[in-house]
Amino acid sequence: MIVTIDGPAGAGKSTIAKRLAEELDFQFLDTGAMYRALTWHAQKSGVRLTAANELATHCLAVPLQIRSGTLWVEQVPMGAEIRTPEVSRDIHYVADNVQIRRHLVDLQRQWVCDANFVSEGRDQGTVAFPSAECKFFLTATPETRARRRQRQLQQQNLPSVYEEILAAQLDRDRRDQSRPEGRLLKAADAITIQTDEMSISEVVAQLANIVQVRLSPRMP
Ligand code: DC
Repeated sequence: MIVTIDGPAGAGKSTIAKRLAEELDFQFLDTGAMYRALTWHAQKSGVRLTAANELATHCLAVPLQIRSGTLWVEQVPMGAEIRTPEVSRDIHYVADNVQIRRHLVDLQRQWVCDANFVSEGRDQGTVAFPSAECKFFLTATPETRARRRQRQLQQQNLPSVYEEILAAQLDRDRRDQSRPEGRLLKAADAITIQTDEMSISEVVAQLANIVQVRLSPRMP
């Protein structure tokens, strides 16, 4: 079974998708990490991000692998280096590039194939896996999402000015919603979960219940 989780930045998708996958004993795919890793790789290789063809040629040659839910680039597991503000700032060059998007969606389909997967991103229920059996759209108000992000940054002793976080997030929302292909969009058959008043555990429990109900008729 394929479970897709789409939604805006800061809705808690990665944490929730990972925990849901653990709970269900499914594999986990964080597709945002793929866009992040290619942005990071292009930056460190000195590729001109504004040159769409050059960027696509570079990115299509970067070997990506997934092992136990972690993305690997050239035999290196990706971690904090792909979650920097510089990567978030430049990621739209990669995410807006149709050649790169199609390549990444092809990879996502190869990896997921017919296995049990929880796959999260922006376009998983609409473009990558339109016939997934269980689709969720996880969201929260921009203010809640910015406050959550602020708390995370504070915990890491990093700069955390609420107004700046909110502005950057609204900018990312606008870009994510307006890209010509693969934009952030709720699939018609996705279940919306408004998470403002919910803890992570509550969201995971609610999603797990829904998936279990859909799984149960398949059991012998
Ligand atoms: O989920 P995230 O914040 O790590 O994603 C980073 C960016 O990657 C996001 O702003 C848009 C892009 N993205 C995308 O275009 N399609 C996806 N399936 C996942 C992420």
